[in-house]
Amino acid sequence: MKVVLASCSRLPNGDGDEEALVAALTRDGVDVVWQPWGSEVEADLVVLRTTWDYPDHLDEFLTWCSTVPALANPLPVVRWNIDKSYMAELASRGVAVVPTTVVLPGEEPAFPGGEFVVKPAVGAGSRGAGRFTDHAEARAHLSALGVKALVQPYQSSVDAHGETALVFFAGEYSHSFHKGPMLAQGLAEAESGLYVEERLGSIEPSSLQLELANQVLDEAASLLSLRRSDFLYARVDVVEGPDGEPLLLELELTEPSLGFKLTTEDAASRFSKVIQAAASGV
Ligand SMILES: Nc1ncnc2c1ncn2[C@@H]1O[C@H](COP(=O)(O)OP(=O)(O)O)[C@@H](O)[C@H]1O
Ligand SMILES: [Mg+2]
Repeated sequence: MKVVLASCSRLPNGDGDEEALVAALTRDGVDVVWQPWGSEVEADLVVLRTTWDYPDHLDEFLTWCSTVPALANPLPVVRWNIDKSYMAELASRGVAVVPTTVVLPGEEPAFPGGEFVVKPAVGAGSRGAGRFTDHAEARAHLSALGVKALVQPYQSSVDAHGETALVFFAGEYSHSFHKGPMLAQGLAEAESGLYVEERLGSIEPSSLQLELANQVLDEAASLLSLRRSDFLYARVDVVEGPDGEPLLLELELTEPSLGFKLTTEDAASRFSKVIQAAASGV
């Protein structure tokens, strides 16, 4: 059985977080290799991992995704999830999300009062995300982006508590990790050009956070007419709302970091098993 972990030319062998996964797959007898997205692939399954340069080559990336033999997550999931407008769809299903307005290029934005965030609808690694109070600056950022964007009130709880990332494999909860705040005033700077450096740690989610994450996966699966077990991997990023209630900040079904370095080896073993089941067409 051969499994390809898809990366990008800037990070051909991943970013180091997935060593435990490679070890677990190897231990289980799987032939596992890293390969940057874009060229021809031969494998029983291609798992999207550090493909983080795709926002600049979106059409090319999706075309490549459509040509690989078997993709995780599957292409319809990736197509839906790559555009953060899904936040509005989940909100309309009654999911508690960070209030999100979608702004099309050239459209006059309605900014919330106080501090708010402007970020590209298709984006990764905090690139292009900015935190503003000044409407003229935010408008200038929107036109500099020149693409569909999201506007959200800045959740100030993030400064103190960051966000909690809940990781699921085949729809089953696996583990969580914590991410510090990413946005200073103005625009986030990505030194690597690919992603803004993250401050990560271990954390146990609250039962309310877990409940929200489960609801998010159920609603996403229902919107896509899939079972939640069809999501080979999922990461649900949750922040605290103004009243301390959990709110969805991001549902990552495309290429999330899964925080293997921040948890026990069991997580990598669990993911290995799920990958093998998918690769063998079970
Ligand atoms: N509405 C918001 N309130 C507070 N912080 C935010 C908000 N939106 C984004 N951020 C910060 O910016 C980071 C990147 O935004 P996110 O929506 O997670 O996009 P991505 O991780 O795909 O680049 C988050 O990790 C968070 O620190
Ligand atoms: Mg994020």
